[in-house]
Amino acid sequence: MRTIKIFDTTLRDGEQAPGCSMDLKEKLELALALEKMGVDILEAGFAIASPGDFESVSEVAKVVKNATVASLARATMKDIDVAYDAVKHAASPRIHTFLATSPTHMEYKLRMTEQQVLDTIAQMVAYAKGKLSDVEFSCEDATRSDKDFLVKAVTAAVKAGATTINIPDTVGYTTPGEMAELIKYLLQHVDGLDAVDLSVHCHNDLGLGAANTLAAIAAGATQIETTLCGLGERAGNASMEEVVMALHTRRDVLPYKTNIDTTRIHPVSRLVYSIIGMQAPLNKPIVGANAFAHEAGIHQHGVLANRQTYEIMTPESVGLNTNKMILGKHSGRHAVEDRLKDLGYTLNKEEMDDLFARFKSLSDRKKTINDSDLEALVLHRITSNGAPWKLDRFTVNSGNYVACNAVVRMSHEGELYEEVALGDGPIDAAFNAVDKIMKAPEHRLEDYSIQTISEGKDAQGEAMVKLSAGNRSYTGRGLSTDVVEASILAYINGMNKLL
Ligand code: KIV
Ligand code: ZN
Repeated sequence: MRTIKIFDTTLRDGEQAPGCSMDLKEKLELALALEKMGVDILEAGFAIASPGDFESVSEVAKVVKNATVASLARATMKDIDVAYDAVKHAASPRIHTFLATSPTHMEYKLRMTEQQVLDTIAQMVAYAKGKLSDVEFSCEDATRSDKDFLVKAVTAAVKAGATTINIPDTVGYTTPGEMAELIKYLLQHVDGLDAVDLSVHCHNDLGLGAANTLAAIAAGATQIETTLCGLGERAGNASMEEVVMALHTRRDVLPYKTNIDTTRIHPVSRLVYSIIGMQAPLNKPIVGANAFAHEAGIHQHGVLANRQTYEIMTPESVGLNTNKMILGKHSGRHAVEDRLKDLGYTLNKEEMDDLFARFKSLSDRKKTINDSDLEALVLHRITSNGAPWKLDRFTVNSGNYVACNAVVRMSHEGELYEEVALGDGPIDAAFNAVDKIMKAPEHRLEDYSIQTISEGKDAQGEAMVKLSAGNRSYTGRGLSTDVVEASILAYINGMNKLL
């Protein structure tokens, strides 16, 4: 069986999607989780996009040891220099440079002739090659390019030393049959293409991202570019979990393997959704809450008799643990640690100390602690650690005949600050008090939601806020059995990022 390389671009194409931005800590956490999951190449970002992007690419490059770390770069010397500087410390660094090859992009975006595009590809791939041996070249909008011009562009990149050629379906326009034909055509017409990796990068505008990716594999592609949960520009990219599980489940017709540990899919997808402050659509394949749920009587009857009647893959194979274990006030550290291991989390001593303290405090407020509660505590450790502003205490006064008001006290570098504010409801009053304390610059609250983590009146609430300032948005998350507290924590988390 041919092994297909997985190039994960959740941290780059995924993060580029509106509302999906991640801060440095979140990117590092996700990069390590993706490495552990077995991705072969991790695109950590677009280093030249901003100083923050540069920092996150270079920090990811320093910590990831078992995957190649790539930075995206336009086909210019400046972009390539910056990409190189960001990845140069990686155990296995890659520069990923690109230039558009479709008539529309060349004429209206690049304002370049075909010859200028071919010359630039040859020069810039050679320039990148002078810096690193591992260079990927992408023909942006390849699927809307003239086939014979694409052959010339790919030939120029291969001759200049590219070690991976990527064929993006940038606007999610192609169909599986066309994609397979294109891959075969390139393999037949480009000298030396069989000696380098041939990759595809499929967007999902027509919902065909995974299907086009599978068609390309069957036609000869050796690398695929995907994102976890299908994050990415517009309708997103091909979902890694869908492609990987299709290969896993349909080995009979798709005899290809990957290095992905499929049992990491659920834990890491929950990390992704928790970072971006969203939930998987209920019916999202593999990772949605309904993906393994059976409601209709006839289905339940079948599944009880034999799971294979309505399940083509087991929940366990994607890391969904069906063995629910309840912990509580009397559970010791070992029981908590063991349960976390079963759920796929291994924490270091310091993280475990912090988590166990929060577990104990939760068990004082909540009788039973199930897997979702425990997992929420783990995922929220990224938001609760090391933030400059912290919530110390608060009081809110609310009712339908009083002006709602809140008193909030926060700490910053050992000092305490307190403010009182009015608002249109207790949450608004509390947020206004936080704004006063943090001397908030101009910003907008774009979104706010709260949902319960588990069942029961004592359930934990997870609050999410989306704040925007200028053209950037910031997600804040907070967790508590008290919904007002969860909301204030989420708001402070978002404001810490904004500041
Ligand atoms: O969709 C696309 O074309 C891209 C390239 C930059 C690879 O993301
Ligand atoms: Zn893309």
